[in-house]
Amino acid sequence: MRRHEGKVALCAGSATGMGAETALRLGREGARVVVGDVNLDAAQKLVDRMVSEGGEGLAITFDIADPDSVKALVDRTVERFGKLDLMHVNATDRKLNLQDYDAVTTDLEVFDRMHAVSLRGHLLCTRFAVPEMLKAGGGAIVYTSSDAGKTSAPQRMSYYIAKAGLNGLMRHTAIRWGKEGVRANCICPGVILTDAVLVNTTEEFREQQRRRVPSPRLGTMQDIAALVAFLLSDEAGWINGQAVSVDGGSVMHG
Ligand SMILES: NC(=O)c1ccc[n+]([C@@H]2O[C@H](COP(=O)([O-])OP(=O)(O)OC[C@H]3O[C@@H](n4cnc5c(N)ncnc54)[C@H](O)[C@@H]3O)[C@@H](O)[C@H]2O)c1
Repeated sequence: MRRHEGKVALCAGSATGMGAETALRLGREGARVVVGDVNLDAAQKLVDRMVSEGGEGLAITFDIADPDSVKALVDRTVERFGKLDLMHVNATDRKLNLQDYDAVTTDLEVFDRMHAVSLRGHLLCTRFAVPEMLKAGGGAIVYTSSDAGKTSAPQRMSYYIAKAGLNGLMRHTAIRWGKEGVRANCICPGVILTDAVLVNTTEEFREQQRRRVPSPRLGTMQDIAALVAFLLSDEAGWINGQAVSVDGGSVMHG
């Protein structure tokens, strides 16, 4: 399947985990892919793999919380490949999760940093990418949100609020530029067995989650890559402004 032949895709915050799997898939489907991340070493390894599979890519170091850095990422993408059609914004600062409690006890610096990366940073990507997509005659954006953006929990307050805000940013983008041919959607993963999740959770936790999910298994990075590649493709041309859960049915029963 070469659905993305001729397209230029920017994957922001995608050196590892589900973002990396998605970048590889976009490359296999024909896109030229820029992988932007704070972790340049991992981004470069990913692009090397893409190239070894016959694709074309570029690794760029950037910080999604810094407007100049995000602008430079978009500018370099266009300089190298001539345009920008597709964007997957996926960055998260995983370190914050362990310090993100409730509304009374969470340090405001944790709340602010969560929003700088998981919400404001996604806004910055949108701000600099949309004008390039309009020049290219349209485009598609997928943000990685979470089922957390549709629900709540007693802990991880900053994360849940940032993801809910991200769903709002996505809907704004969809309605503001839909008529000009830019679509925006969110994916909302449930528990996905990325390397980081495997390292940071116990088998007991995963078994507990497995029992909770209506489907027989937890999610994989391939589940995510398949949905993002579809939502960015012309086959999803009539899907706009949606927060699509990819969670084995978890969110429907809380
Ligand atoms: N893994 C899950 O179960 C799960 C569930 C729901 C939602 N999500 C969401 O999926 C996305 C990817 O998660 P993952 O599990 O693959 O995590 P991950 O940590 O492997 O990927 C996040 C990437 O963001 C990059 N990053 C961090 N800070 C950055 C910054 N300031 N600027 C640029 N890049 C930065 C990291 O280097 C990393 O490559 C996140 O948005 C996360 O909230 C994950």
